[in-house]
Amino acid sequence: MDTFDAIKTRRAIKKFDSSHKMSSEEIKSLMEHVILSPTSYNQQNWRFITVTDQDIKNKISKAARDQAQPRDGSLVIVLCGNMNAWKEEPLRYWKNNTLEKQELVKNSLSKKYADSPQNRRDEAIRSCGFAGQTIMLAAKQMGLDSCPMVGFDYDELADIVKLPEDHLIVLMIVVGKALEPAGERGGQLPLNEVVFENHF
Ligand SMILES: Cc1cc2nc3c(=O)[nH]c(=O)nc-3n(C[C@H](O)[C@H](O)[C@H](O)COP(=O)(O)O)c2cc1C
Repeated sequence: MDTFDAIKTRRAIKKFDSSHKMSSEEIKSLMEHVILSPTSYNQQNWRFITVTDQDIKNKISKAARDQAQPRDGSLVIVLCGNMNAWKEEPLRYWKNNTLEKQELVKNSLSKKYADSPQNRRDEAIRSCGFAGQTIMLAAKQMGLDSCPMVGFDYDELADIVKLPEDHLIVLMIVVGKALEPAGERGGQLPLNEVVFENHF
């Protein structure tokens, strides 16, 4: 699918076909593309939980104020940030490069994140944001649809996915076969309200 077509036809789907299943090969292919999304210093601080188990999807739906998408979608992906990624064997983030480059990145990561929970959190949100859009566009390429979601009880979802202490849930994305198209777009703001040339 043409990239512009994928961007234009991606919509937040509310009704998914509950009989549609994704194979483990399809999920693997999707995730192999998702991890090509950019992260600062290539730190890959995202962690993804791919949920296909119906009981768990039902629990997630309940945590999502009974929204139907996690229950009926083929796959729920919970996008999390690992707040300690910056210090977990960081040399491997540049393993294809020289040791000098690896050490340089390790020092930069330490400088930026060691004393700043805010930087760690911001980075998790940035990384998951990019990965989220990749999930949704790759889903279109696979003939599937998606719905990004934050309408859930954080603690309940954390409990369901057994979230580690040093991780943050950023959002979840449901992927599946649309049963109904999305309604009319809410309406985009005019370009001149959101885009500025050279400065505000
Ligand atoms: C961070 C985020 C959280 C969202 N949470 C929900 C949600 O909990 N339930 C839902 O039905 N849609 C949710 N949406 C979908 C938005 O309502 C939707 O993307 C927006 O209205 C624009 O519509 P479109 O994606 O079809 O273009 C969410 C979208 C984003 C980006």
